[in-house]
Amino acid sequence: MNNVEIYYFSGTGNSLHVAKELQKLIPETKLIPIVSLLNKEFIETKAETVGFVFPIHLAMAPAPVIEFLKKLDLKSAKYILAVATRAGSQHRAFIDLEKILKKKGKGLDSYFTLNMASNDPKFEGWHPATAEEIAKLESEVQNKLNSIQEIVINKEKSREKDTNFTVPMPVFSILSLLLPILNRLYNVEFYADAKCVGCGTCEKVCLSQKIKIINGKPVWQKDVQCFFCHACLNYCPEQAVQIKSTRLLKSYTDKNERYSHPYAIVDDIAGQK
Ligand SMILES: Cc1cc2nc3c(=O)[nH]c(=O)nc-3n(C[C@H](O)[C@H](O)[C@H](O)COP(=O)(O)O)c2cc1C
Ligand code: SF4
Ligand code: SF4
Repeated sequence: MNNVEIYYFSGTGNSLHVAKELQKLIPETKLIPIVSLLNKEFIETKAETVGFVFPIHLAMAPAPVIEFLKKLDLKSAKYILAVATRAGSQHRAFIDLEKILKKKGKGLDSYFTLNMASNDPKFEGWHPATAEEIAKLESEVQNKLNSIQEIVINKEKSREKDTNFTVPMPVFSILSLLLPILNRLYNVEFYADAKCVGCGTCEKVCLSQKIKIINGKPVWQKDVQCFFCHACLNYCPEQAVQIKSTRLLKSYTDKNERYSHPYAIVDDIAGQK
């Protein structure tokens, strides 16, 4: 039996990097990709310490993380932690996780938010973090991971107060419910522009298997749910994957560069499936 199991989800490698670092810091830790379990009806952990590492999407945990958590049997768990990676804005992910865990008679013993580089190039003026910016963020992440190590090994309670807290949480929780509606109004859709050379990388990294290469070009299948992980957008070697502009969303992906964590290659992302 593994004493520690860390379940992770990562579109561009930030959360994967954090999960790998935690594995180095906490003895007997097994890493398990959440995407590899999504087709299972029932998922059971056998570990005493269970962790979840994931990015913040629209102020929340990504939909597949929530779906996974609802199915997870946590009877063996005596200590549960969650680590969210984000670009810097306030979120409500831990409130949502707590609600799901409460129904299972469990709760989060500790949770932490790590500020990392943004992987969302659709906004005007966005640029990928520079080497200096990444080095600064990584050094802060590493410091925080060292304190997380102590807390987890000693099984301490630690509910970190969010330093980027701007709106009182009850108000924020209500406001943030509007974000998925806003996203639907944005009608986020991807396409490949003329730079596409049909290499198949986007299909390989697509965590929801929404992308299929048909006649040498990627097709985003309408009947498959997108996880909005942004792996296709950021790992296309030609920067050919774009987000469509709509009346509400002017997308700048055709002007902006791309981001992926410096240590996360295509096989690392694809390996989660
Ligand atoms: C669709 C989408 C929505 C995002 N929403 C937020 C957000 O609400 N707040 C935030 O701070 N970062 C947000 N981000 C940035 C990511 O949380 C951040 O870059 C994260 O570390 C990426 O982790 P990953 O590489 O493991 O996927 C968003 C990213 C994407 C792709
Ligand atoms: S990764 Fe880019 S170049 Fe390769 S098939 Fe997809 S869109 Fe085309
Ligand atoms: S289509 Fe792109 S954003 Fe959506 S799940 Fe696939 S790789 Fe992620």
